[in-house]
Amino acid sequence: MEFDIESNISYIENKINELEKFTDQKQPFTRLVFSKEFYEARSWLKNEYDKLGLLVSTDEAGNLIGTLNSKIDTDKIVIVGSHIDTVPSGGKFDGIAGVVAALCLIKHIKDNDIDLPFNLAVYDYLGEELNDWGISCIGTRGMIGALNQEILSRANSSGNILKHEINKIGGNSKSLTKPLPTIKNILACLELHIEQGKILEQKKLDIGIVRSIPSISRFNVEVNGQAGHSGTILMDQRADALVASSEIITFVNRLALRLSQESNQHFVSTIGKINVLPNAAAIIPGKVEMTIDLRSSSKSSREQYVKELQEKIELMNKTGTCKIEMNNIANAPYVEMDKELVKLFKDSANACGLTNQIMDSGAGHDTAQLSRLVPAAMIFIPCKEGLSHCPEEHAEILDISKGTAVLLKMVENLAMLNHT
Ligand code: GLV
Ligand code: MN
Ligand code: MN
Repeated sequence: MEFDIESNISYIENKINELEKFTDQKQPFTRLVFSKEFYEARSWLKNEYDKLGLLVSTDEAGNLIGTLNSKIDTDKIVIVGSHIDTVPSGGKFDGIAGVVAALCLIKHIKDNDIDLPFNLAVYDYLGEELNDWGISCIGTRGMIGALNQEILSRANSSGNILKHEINKIGGNSKSLTKPLPTIKNILACLELHIEQGKILEQKKLDIGIVRSIPSISRFNVEVNGQAGHSGTILMDQRADALVASSEIITFVNRLALRLSQESNQHFVSTIGKINVLPNAAAIIPGKVEMTIDLRSSSKSSREQYVKELQEKIELMNKTGTCKIEMNNIANAPYVEMDKELVKLFKDSANACGLTNQIMDSGAGHDTAQLSRLVPAAMIFIPCKEGLSHCPEEHAEILDISKGTAVLLKMVENLAMLNHT
C-alpha cells in the first residue's frame, strides 16, 4: 500500500506529544543527554521499538537501536536516525522529528510486509547536542572512532566522567577510538530533520535535500582578572574579567560578520555560554569562562578567524590587566553528503510529488559525522520562522509526514538498487 501522508499524521503527532513530556518541567523543552528525563525518554523509545517488533540493542557508542531484520540472511544495514536529546530550553522537533519519522517509516514497512534486502535500523544517536563535556554527536563520533581518550576522560561541571556515562547507558567506551565493526556493513545513513532556517518556509517548498554541512569548532576561553570590592577598588586599578570578556565578545561578532561578507559562504560565530565568577553585584568579576561556537563552510575563512582571534588575545594579554587563554575543545570538518544519495533523495522527493531544493545546512548533524566514513545524506522539512534551539520551535506534522514519505521512497529505491 502507498504511504498515505494524511493518514499517518495522527501516529506522528501522538509520538511527538508523548516524547515532549520527557522534559525538565521547570524549563521546557530540556532533555539533556544522560539526564533523568533522557533515561525516561529512552525507556519510552525502547518500548516503541518493542511495539513495532524490532530487535532492540545499544551499541558500544550508546546509540539506542531498533532493527527490522531482512528476511534474507544479510549483514547489510540501512540506518534511519536522529536524536532525542535537546539543548537547554530547546524545542519539540529538533532531532525528535527524525526519530519519530523513522518509527513511522518502519511501522509502514511492517504493516505492509515490505521485503527489504537489508536490515533497516532506527537509531537514536546518543547525545547529538553540545553538552557540558564540550562535545556534540557522542554516538556518531563513537561509531566512526572519533572520540579520543582526552574527550572520553573529560568531567562535566558536576564531576561526572563522560566515559562512565557512556558505559552506564550500555555503551563500551573502550571501543570508541576506532570505527565500530558495524560501519563496514552500512549501505546508507539517512536522516530527516527540521531545517532550523527559513529557506523552505520562504520558498514554500516541502523538502530540502542537504548537500553540505559546515565545519564546527568550539573553543573555551578563560579570562582571569582579579576579584575585589566594587566600592573600594578605583576604576584605573581594576582587572575586571567581564569587561575584558565583553571586548572579546564584540570582537568575535564583528570579525565573523566581516568574514561572512568577504567569503560569501556560510560563516557564523557565537558566544552563547558565559560563566561569570563569582557573579555577585558587589564584587568585581574575577574570572569569566566562555564557549565560542564557530561554523564555516570555508577552510580559509575559518583559518583567518582563528588567526585574527589569537592575535587579538595576544595583544590583550600584552597590554591589558587580565590573562586570557583560549583552547580548542571540539572540531567537526566541513562535509558533503554522498552525491548518489543526494540524487536518489531528489528522485524520491520528485516521485512523491513534493516540491524540493538542494541546499546547504547551517546547523551541525549526526549525519555530518557519519558521512566522514559511510554513505550518508539527509533531508530537511520546513520549520516555522526558522526558529530552533528555543521553545518556540515548530514544525507542521503534515510536513513531517511528507518527509517520511520521501524516506520511504528512498528506502524502496535503495532496496531496488541492492537487490540480490
Ligand atoms: C546542532 O544542534 C547544532 O548545534 O548545530
Ligand atoms: Mn538536531
Ligand atoms: Mn540541535
